[in-house]
Amino acid sequence: MIQVLTMLYLWLKAAHVIFVVFWMAGLFMLPRFFVYHQECAPGAPENALWVEREARLLKIILWPSLVLVWVFGLMLAVSGGWFTQGWLHAKLAVVVVLTGYHVWMASYARHLATGQRKLTGRQLRLANEVPGVAAAIIIILVILKPF
Ligand code: HEM
Repeated sequence: MIQVLTMLYLWLKAAHVIFVVFWMAGLFMLPRFFVYHQECAPGAPENALWVEREARLLKIILWPSLVLVWVFGLMLAVSGGWFTQGWLHAKLAVVVVLTGYHVWMASYARHLATGQRKLTGRQLRLANEVPGVAAAIIIILVILKPF
């Protein structure tokens, strides 16, 4: 029985990390798309192509990965009894920030689709640092479990 639970735990962890990779890849790609998108004129045919690429990235990769990272992460936390640990609380705080960033980027895609360009290319490149920094903190917390 214990062996089955351990095996299941490892499968859950594998699924969690697979969707973490997909989610992070999407989060790195989307603001890059925005930078290229903003370089073409609002009515240009290429503009419509970028709107479609961004919508597809969000629909096929980003939203499903976000949900599955949360689902498998919470299953791990429950089955491993990790909810009392400080590192998990800190990790959850950073993941909530990252989820907020995801929602903000998704709303930026909707604004771009209606021709609004609220940020400069430089600001978008700066925003692109958020997932990298968040991922570094999260991975240090989950692997080192410092508290
Ligand atoms: C969405 C909420 C999340 C929850 C509730 C959660 C929870 C967990 C738990 C309980 C574990 C198992 C820890 C262990 O067995 O030692 C784990 C593993 C892991 N998580 Fe998350 N996680 C979440 C999101 C994330 C995110 C966003 C990332 C990366 C950016 C991430 C990266 C990892 C990695 C790399 C591992 C494997 C660590 C190891 O095997 O040592 N998690 N997660």
